[in-house]
Amino acid sequence: MSDKLKVAVVGCGAVTEHRHIPSFARIKNKVILQAACDKNEELARKVAQHYHIPKVYTSQTEMLKSEKIDIVDVCTPPQIHAPIAIEALENGCHVLLEKPMALTVSDCDKMIDAARKNNRKLCIVHNVLFHPPLVKACKLVKEGAIGNFIGMRILLADPKDEMIMRKDYWIHKLPGGVIGETGPHPVYISLAFLDKVKAVEVFTKSYLEHPWARFDEFRFELDADNGLSSTAISYSGERYAAEVEIFGSKGALYVDLQSMLCIKHGPKTSLSQGTLVKTSLSTVSQTLGGIIANGLKAITGQFKVGHDTVIELFIDSVINDTTPPVTGEQGREVIRVLDMIVNRLYEKYGKPSEN
Ligand SMILES: NC(=O)c1ccc[n+]([C@@H]2O[C@H](COP(=O)([O-])OP(=O)(O)OC[C@H]3O[C@@H](n4cnc5c(N)ncnc54)[C@H](O)[C@@H]3O)[C@@H](O)[C@H]2O)c1
Repeated sequence: MSDKLKVAVVGCGAVTEHRHIPSFARIKNKVILQAACDKNEELARKVAQHYHIPKVYTSQTEMLKSEKIDIVDVCTPPQIHAPIAIEALENGCHVLLEKPMALTVSDCDKMIDAARKNNRKLCIVHNVLFHPPLVKACKLVKEGAIGNFIGMRILLADPKDEMIMRKDYWIHKLPGGVIGETGPHPVYISLAFLDKVKAVEVFTKSYLEHPWARFDEFRFELDADNGLSSTAISYSGERYAAEVEIFGSKGALYVDLQSMLCIKHGPKTSLSQGTLVKTSLSTVSQTLGGIIANGLKAITGQFKVGHDTVIELFIDSVINDTTPPVTGEQGREVIRVLDMIVNRLYEKYGKPSEN
């Protein structure tokens, strides 16, 4: 009998197919994909057939009655994360749960309780934190490479076709609308550097004016004792962007998550020709070094994106009975801050009648 952990994916949509299944495929020495479950039977069958997953279900309840599953990987829309995760935990499964952990802090508490009572592990997929250049940036900040942490700035952009223009997409029904989908990423990135967030401010614009989405541009500020974080989320343009800048007393880090590069800037720059040349050469050499390192890893199949790393670390935490890479408590803190953002949004712009 195989001693590999049996995994079931619940929700067979975009993130399962493009991220989770490929990440599990990298660690097939440790796991076996045993079942695909989606309320859309055709989709579940298609995914199962394509990735050689032996069992197909349209209901998690039925699946848990029939199969001995070690890990349930929850990739449904966030509206039903809590009931699906709690049912899996109460049936003795460890749970890997896509962000956002839930829609409310009280649902997060219920999941944390269910994990504790059933002695099972719960891990939230805060994948962007595990992209290599952000891992490097966290390490550099910890080591004091840019002096004392002062603050940060994040830009996330999704092309309008992907998100805002899809009328019946579940993201529009989240608290705060689309910010409930993308917002967790900049919040958990910020929380990797900030102490407890005490206050938030929010700004919005609507350029596309779709009736199903109130806003397509969001700005929010997080205020903590040790620094500030400013986020721009843009859905109204045509491009992807994922950039993080971290400011310290002795320098700054620029992380580009599209090209997977982390560039360090030193403390003193001026517009003198000598300094301009030195700064440009430093940026060019770090960029080239990063491109070559990434290229070599890609060619040899060693390049891992955030999902690959967080999923493998979670599987290792189950095998070794250690703390998961992202705990339920960390997922809960993201929802607490997201809740502050959504409440401030409603305070300023009014609560939509449908939500
Ligand atoms: N970490 C990331 O980078 C990232 C990226 C995309 C999505 N996500 C998250 O992943 C989750 C899923 O997103 P997606 O883009 O794959 O959504 P999706 O709409 O493409 O897929 C969701 C699937 O869940 C299924 N489903 C709904 N209710 C179900 C139920 N009760 N039982 C079984 N299946 C059910 C739907 O039929 C659908 O196929 C969300 O929480 C989202 O925020 C994370």
